[in-house]
Amino acid sequence: MYGIGLGPGDAGLLTLEGKRLLEAADTVYASGDRSRSVAGEHVPESTIEALSFPMTDDDDRLRRAWRTAARRVAEANRDGDVAVVTLGDPNVYSTFGHLRRTLEALHPDVEIEVIPGVSAATAFASALGVEIEAGSGIALREAIDGAAPVGPDRLVLFKVTDAAATAEKLDEAGYDVRFGRQLFMEDETVMTDDPDELTDGEYFTLAYAEKRDLDREFRTEVFRTEESRTEETRTEGDR
Ligand SMILES: C[S@@+](CC[C@H](N)C(=O)[O-])C[C@H]1O[C@@H](n2cnc3c(N)ncnc32)[C@H](O)[C@@H]1O
Repeated sequence: MYGIGLGPGDAGLLTLEGKRLLEAADTVYASGDRSRSVAGEHVPESTIEALSFPMTDDDDRLRRAWRTAARRVAEANRDGDVAVVTLGDPNVYSTFGHLRRTLEALHPDVEIEVIPGVSAATAFASALGVEIEAGSGIALREAIDGAAPVGPDRLVLFKVTDAAATAEKLDEAGYDVRFGRQLFMEDETVMTDDPDELTDGEYFTLAYAEKRDLDREFRTEVFRTEESRTEETRTEGDR
């Protein structure tokens, strides 16, 4: 069974290996509309089956769902190759982990291979135009329901459902915050530092927080000075 990371949403950000295995799979399982539609850019949607993982804290319901999903995957795996797709990377804050652990415990005959995907944990940087410079510290955290965990100078916060509350607390803790909603997801992307633009609690929202007044010194800084000197010389020559 292949656990395939689909990347953050744009079909073009699936790895070549992920695409090869997805196209070769006899059965494809997806656990949400988003992953279904990204996978559907590569294989016919009619061939993608749904795995359901309820959004609940009820342990019994969750365990029942994981058991059922694992049984279906194990049965399909007897008849051919199975791909289970997840957005981003299967091993980063993903429901795939529950399925993998359930399979390992209850169906140890199923061989599992994970194909990494481009995680929102790194994709946010390109989308928001952020550079995590060599030598910097950065942490991944979850920030559900207005939580605002703090830590090193830079944080990537997943599952930001109350952007305003998270922003307020981070501001008090000395961080500047930027939000990315539905990054790499067609026309729906929002990038903003104004939490009031994100009042609907959209699930695919993350935040990047950076300590204010970070002491940054780049070796390349000298080029800027050189460039401005050259500019000055040129302007003087023109006079
Ligand atoms: C259950 S986690 C899955 C993470 C995924 N496995 C990964 O590696 O990116 C879901 C959270 O990831 C973040 N996320 C994933 N894809 C995103 C995207 N395209 N744009 C913004 N946030 C995203 C959101 O914070 C969302 O609540």
